[in-house]
Amino acid sequence: MIQLPRASLAALTIACGLGVAPAVTAQDATLGRHLGATCANCHGTNGNARAGMRSLAGVPQDKIVAAMADYKSGAQPATIMHQIAKGYSEAQVQLIASYFAAQKPTGK
Ligand code: HEC
Repeated sequence: MIQLPRASLAALTIACGLGVAPAVTAQDATLGRHLGATCANCHGTNGNARAGMRSLAGVPQDKIVAAMADYKSGAQPATIMHQIAKGYSEAQVQLIASYFAAQKPTGK
């Protein structure tokens, strides 16, 4: 469960009530960037990995979400990701994946 400050919950409630809630709020995007920073050690800054490592920048959100789910369930064998994937809730993975999908691949 993602902890949101009370004020943002109130704002979200109001926005929903007015029917203008965007799919991803600015705060969600910031949280996604922060959570995604934990992936930088291996997948590079903003998801642009050094040669030899897989980049996440520009990878579609649903692809990253599916990969994380497969690592978590064990459907996709891994050396590291099966453990990392278990550390995040589905909602957190959605935010992280949304962040990386929006990053520009530098093609390194
Ligand atoms: C300690 C290094 C490390 C960290 C930190 C790490 N990864 Fe990975 N990641 C890997 C490795 C290594 C692979 C290849 C699969 C394996 O052997 O685990 C991989 C593969 C992946 C893949 C599949 C890419 C593809 O092209 O198939 C995704 C998606 C992914 N990681 C997402 C993430 C996300 C999201 C985070 C942060 C929450 C993260 N990783 C953090 C090392 C890491």
